[in-house]
Amino acid sequence: MNISPQEGEVSRADRQALLNQTSVTIWFTGISGAGKSSIAIALEKALHTQKRVSYRLDGDNLRLGLSKNLGFSETDRRENIRRVGEVAKLISDVGVIVLSSFISPYAVDRDTVRKLHEDSGFRFIEVYVDCSVTEAERRDPKGLYRKARAGEIENFTGVSHPYEAPIEPDIHLHTEDSTIKDEVSTIIDYLVDEKIIDSDLVLKS
Ligand code: ADX
Repeated sequence: MNISPQEGEVSRADRQALLNQTSVTIWFTGISGAGKSSIAIALEKALHTQKRVSYRLDGDNLRLGLSKNLGFSETDRRENIRRVGEVAKLISDVGVIVLSSFISPYAVDRDTVRKLHEDSGFRFIEVYVDCSVTEAERRDPKGLYRKARAGEIENFTGVSHPYEAPIEPDIHLHTEDSTIKDEVSTIIDYLVDEKIIDSDLVLKS
């Protein structure tokens, strides 16, 4: 291939020390309307308030740029997750906390992204944002379920395209019977327990 990695003189550890934090990718998976983006937005704010640098990668946003040439076939979704997984790893290497919200319907692709991180010494936390199709369809924040049921959107997750729920997620959130505030607390408690962030990070309501 005639390609070899180029080492610099500033290490990942140097960057993390500068930012005074540990890299981690927090990977939210779940169907459309489950609450992935809302939880990531609230978590980003909580982390920022406590002077932790995080960055959100969001399906809808990345599909306007990096993945704008991709649709929702199995092949395209898998390529979307492959790209996003590589981007998440790059941002982890900067020392920034990645909050990644993608349906990511295939277990094998989520496992590949986990391996990509762990093989390079990065933490990867899979958060299953669990919500029934019935409830997501009731919320229908973007009116997409209505369109999917009317046959105006093909390959719609939960309606005409599969979603493989994680069997052993690191964190399992049930958004039908909890609040965003409690969900953010659950994630922060997990990060503290795993010694990824210090216990001085307490949520101020
Ligand atoms: S993924 O399957 O490749 O992980 P991704 O998270 O990037 O999906 O994008 C999902 C978002 O695209 C949804 O939140 C929704 O707003 C929009 N969308 C448009 N078409 C579809 C579809 N057929 N299935 C699911 N989401 C869709």
